[in-house]
Amino acid sequence: MFYDDETIARVREANDIVDVVGSYVRLTRRGSSYIGLCPFHNEKTASFNVNRNMQIYKCFGCGKAGNVFTFLMEYDSLSFSDAVKELADRAGIPLPEREMTEEEKQRRNIREKLLEINKAAAGYYYRLLRTEQGAPAYRYLKGRALSDETMQKFGLGYAGKGGSGLYDTLKAQGYSDEVLHESGIFSFSERGVYDKFWNRVIFPYMDKNGKVIAFGARLMTPSEKYPKYLNSPETKVFIKGKNLYGMHLARHSHEKYMLLCEGYMDTIALHQAGFDNAVGSMGTALTPAQAKLISDYVKEVVITYDQDAAGRNAILRAIPILKEAGIITRVVDMKPYKDPDEFIKELGAEEYRKRVEQAVTAFDFEAESIHEKIDPKDPAQKTKFDHELARKLASIEDEIERYNYIEAAARDYNIDRDALTRRVNELGRQLYSEEVAKETQERAAREKKKGGKDAEQMLISMIANNAGFYRMAKDLITKEDFSDPLCNKIVGIIYDSYESTGEIVHANIVSRFEEVTDQEKAAGILNSALYEDDIDEDEMKKAFADLMIRVLGNSLDSQQQRALETDDAKLFQELMFRKNDLETLRDRLLRQKQEM
Ligand code: UTP
Ligand code: MN
Repeated sequence: MFYDDETIARVREANDIVDVVGSYVRLTRRGSSYIGLCPFHNEKTASFNVNRNMQIYKCFGCGKAGNVFTFLMEYDSLSFSDAVKELADRAGIPLPEREMTEEEKQRRNIREKLLEINKAAAGYYYRLLRTEQGAPAYRYLKGRALSDETMQKFGLGYAGKGGSGLYDTLKAQGYSDEVLHESGIFSFSERGVYDKFWNRVIFPYMDKNGKVIAFGARLMTPSEKYPKYLNSPETKVFIKGKNLYGMHLARHSHEKYMLLCEGYMDTIALHQAGFDNAVGSMGTALTPAQAKLISDYVKEVVITYDQDAAGRNAILRAIPILKEAGIITRVVDMKPYKDPDEFIKELGAEEYRKRVEQAVTAFDFEAESIHEKIDPKDPAQKTKFDHELARKLASIEDEIERYNYIEAAARDYNIDRDALTRRVNELGRQLYSEEVAKETQERAAREKKKGGKDAEQMLISMIANNAGFYRMAKDLITKEDFSDPLCNKIVGIIYDSYESTGEIVHANIVSRFEEVTDQEKAAGILNSALYEDDIDEDEMKKAFADLMIRVLGNSLDSQQQRALETDDAKLFQELMFRKNDLETLRDRLLRQKQEM
């Protein structure tokens, strides 16, 4: 961890979780908790619970839980140390210079090296394009109507005739084979190492900060034998579904929407034509992470995918993903041309701009694509279509928007407006109650699972939330009795904390874990028994005794197993006696006066 525990605790204490979460999520008070709609999954009824006393949050819908650091890590995809930093800033706490662990240094090292290699490679390709050897590639790009300025802006290049020119260059600069291999742009085989891309035009792929993270390499003449594009594989610096081509430029655009296209050439052609808000999803289906990336900058997208069937299907798949990210989507019609590159080449930027202005709403696009498939003169098919349309309309959440769409749909598709309205409202009520029912059902299933769930976690939760239970437990059960490694670790931390300060602070325990998944699990565990309302003291004690016996029993079982494996008869015997004593122990625990 970068910062010492004391600093982390200080930062955490200065940032009340209700205030921090409350600046992202609308919370309403309920007892000592605050409730709101979970920001980590879609829901209609509030299951997201923030507890001021414990300084932790938990969603009873999706199970996400954690402390104020975890929240920022999840919500803004920050690393733990960045979350600490942000909250320290927020509270005006100066942080000591951060000290990285060896592992962190290593990880950072390799990422930095990969970025260096990509940068050096981009430079190599870039220079080659401007040599004699690169002349055919240069002519090719000119032939595709790209200006020198555009080529430079996108850092276009050329991978030479073949061989290992780039490899030799980078080797000479001191990079090891190991890291060159990880960069994904070389082929390693028994025969040697070769540059993966050759005789192709090179498109460097930049991340949102303009760092080269990958390459696309395009053939200059069509081939049956080779794919049109060769791309970098995923590496430690390149995760396909998390980036968008052109984003380093588009995010600085002043437009309030982004143009989403399919390919390298489309993105570049759009920028050259003055659309500095274009990004490319590069032939893969748009991912939620990409939609989220867009939504960091704008709330509107105009899709300008290829006009063919594949493109239309990709649009239909992208629409709900964008919607989920809170983005309003429209779709450009480029007929009779296939893609923005071709359209602009034929009709120019102004005509294209008009098409963008005329772009249809996502709803209309979806409705049209169903309508295309039916014969509207056939009453059966038309009825089916009308009903499907009603279902789509019913899922529009905003009431005013919904009525506007009902009006438009009734007019465009010749449906009786009142009948359509009635049908949509009916479906809306049904949809809503179905959703609520589903949520309730899911919740019940989770509760049930929780009931039978890990005695270890329940026991930890009881010990953590009650010093009296800790005093009863500490001499009877050790962290080694907990089989789950995470539980084992938490128990260690809890015992230490009680020992040194006489109390435990949940959120501090959570921040002892570096990985966000562990933090979540830890918070979940600390919380596991907590919300079972109104259990009286006797019942609590009984539950505690039962859990102690169960966890100890399991531990003794596995110790016995090991004793058998090592032929330790004496130990086996001893464990046997201890097991027999468990029932007596339970009685003792139940009789013991609990000092709460
Ligand atoms: P396109 O075939 O539409 O390519 O694929 P393009 O970018 O428009 O290029 P031109 O206009 O034909 O020169 C769209 C995107 O799909 C990916 C590339 O990212 C491309 O930009 N793709 C396509 C591949 O990765 N491999 C391929 O073989 C083809
Ligand atoms: Mn294309």
